[in-house]
Amino acid sequence: MSLRMRINLIITTLIVLFTLVTAHIIVSDMRRSIREEMEAGGKITLQLLAGVLDVAHQATDDEQANEVLTSFLQNLGRVRAHDIKLFADDDTLLYQSPPSVYKAGRHAPRWFYHMVSPQLQEMSLQTGEGRVIVTPDDTRAVLDAWDDLLQLLWLLAGLLVMANLAVFLLVGRSLKPTRKILAGLSQMQRGQFHTRLPPFTLHEFDAIGRTFNGMADALEKSHAENQRLALVAQQSSDAIIIHDLYGNISFWNPAAERLFGYPAEEIVGRSATLLTPPGAELEVEANLTAIRDRRMIENLETRRLAYDGAQIDVLLSAAPLVDPASDRVIGEIVSMRDITAQKRAQQVEADLEQNRRLTRLIQTRLEEERRSIARELHDELGQCVTAIRTFGAAIANRTRNDMPDVHRSAQTIVQVGGHLYDVVHGIIRQLRPSALDNLGLREALEELSDTWRERYPEIAVHMELEGDLDNLGETVNITVYRLVQECVTNVVRHAAARHADIRVSRIDDRLEVSVRDDGKGLGERNAVDSARFGLMGMRERVEGLNGMFSIEGRPGEGVIVSASIPLHPVAATV
Ligand SMILES: Nc1ncnc2c1ncn2[C@@H]1O[C@H](COP(=O)(O)OP(=O)(O)OP(=O)(O)O)[C@@H](O)[C@H]1O
Ligand SMILES: [Mg+2]
Repeated sequence: MSLRMRINLIITTLIVLFTLVTAHIIVSDMRRSIREEMEAGGKITLQLLAGVLDVAHQATDDEQANEVLTSFLQNLGRVRAHDIKLFADDDTLLYQSPPSVYKAGRHAPRWFYHMVSPQLQEMSLQTGEGRVIVTPDDTRAVLDAWDDLLQLLWLLAGLLVMANLAVFLLVGRSLKPTRKILAGLSQMQRGQFHTRLPPFTLHEFDAIGRTFNGMADALEKSHAENQRLALVAQQSSDAIIIHDLYGNISFWNPAAERLFGYPAEEIVGRSATLLTPPGAELEVEANLTAIRDRRMIENLETRRLAYDGAQIDVLLSAAPLVDPASDRVIGEIVSMRDITAQKRAQQVEADLEQNRRLTRLIQTRLEEERRSIARELHDELGQCVTAIRTFGAAIANRTRNDMPDVHRSAQTIVQVGGHLYDVVHGIIRQLRPSALDNLGLREALEELSDTWRERYPEIAVHMELEGDLDNLGETVNITVYRLVQECVTNVVRHAAARHADIRVSRIDDRLEVSVRDDGKGLGERNAVDSARFGLMGMRERVEGLNGMFSIEGRPGEGVIVSASIPLHPVAATV
């Protein structure tokens, strides 16, 4: 039942009760006053008639007294609430008072009459030769009472209707905001958190409205935040899993689905131990202990098991899930990133670094070996050749006049010895550029290009050296020297070029080397010819120093060999 109906019912009940009590009091009062009125009226009537009889008896005899009384009664007419009858001795009715004209023809209901009528006895008075009977007639008084009561009842009925109507309208108007509040609440229930209530005139409803709006603000904010977090979790490229402290999974995002191969509907509700690879039980237990102690787990490199049984390298971070109401840890939020590719790349990088180190070692050993051979050639062969030339010259001198044949042979020995000496020195220079050891990269390269200009006048060798090329370290020096040496040798051997441009420049902590020619360029076959050592050796040397190496050359457009070598400590020391 609505509040309005309830209030109306209460008011109706109260008014009806009030009416009943009032009616009861009024009816009792009426009964009493009718009795008093009737009794008093009866007594007065009897006294009046007795007085008249007394006077009549004093003046006349009994028979005439009746006539005097009759004439008096006829003059008197109707006494309001009493019927008067005069009987002769033989019970002949001599006189009867006329009926009342007051509210003639109308009567109170019988039940009401019985309720309020005092039920009085008739009274009689002996007249000498007859008697007077005075009968109380309370019907008029009861009718009056009934009319009064009816009036009161109508009044109360009117009051009842008016009061109910007023309360109905007033309460309806006052409760109008409840409809808006209810509508707002049901909108909120449907998830429309932007719903707000307008200001209300009634203070109480206005306070409710303001509280409602504050609550809606908070809800809207937290809903938006939740949505954002849910979206982040859904769209995250990392696998995000939530499980309770017993391991039961309650959240499994699409990235987790992709990483481990379990569809969400299949794994939610199951245990997270499904992901634990054999041997990792202790680690998982330790993680859970940390979470129970409210500690975070950050960037733990570990492995987890996929649906197909494969072990995946993951970077795991985890945080405790705390129930805000009880402030208890109720679970764990885990995010995992697939680092298989990263691990593989790390492995490849490690292998590559090892290869580079090996290459550097080989090159260093090679250079050492070359230097030692150069030294041996210089010290041993050079000495011997010098000795042969010296002896040859001595023999030639001594035999010039006496033994012309021996003299010619000795001269030939001296010439061949000289040639051998030049060849040995050439080989020594090739094996170990002494200028590199004695003067540095810049001078060694200049000496190299001078030699070529001299040896191959048909090729215009142009060289540009930029920046500080001192103190680059032995490894970088020999790498650049060998690179330029091999490139120019290739130009001479394969390019049929007229120009060769060599450029070595230091830019910050990098060394850029390029050798360009205008020869026939690279054919398809040449570019992929891995059986050759020159280009391959250059690439290995450069990459051994973490540098970049490239060779380009379309047919007819010449060839350009480029290298970029970082000048960091690793490259300089080995
Ligand atoms: N500047 C160039 N112009 C045209 N072709 C070239 C040039 N440099 C290299 N090539 C081609 O590339 C091939 C590979 O060169 P690479 O230096 O590796 O080997 P190579 O010079 O033939 O032999 P080696 O192992 O003695 O150096 C050469 O055989 C040649 O055909
Ligand atoms: Mg070559």
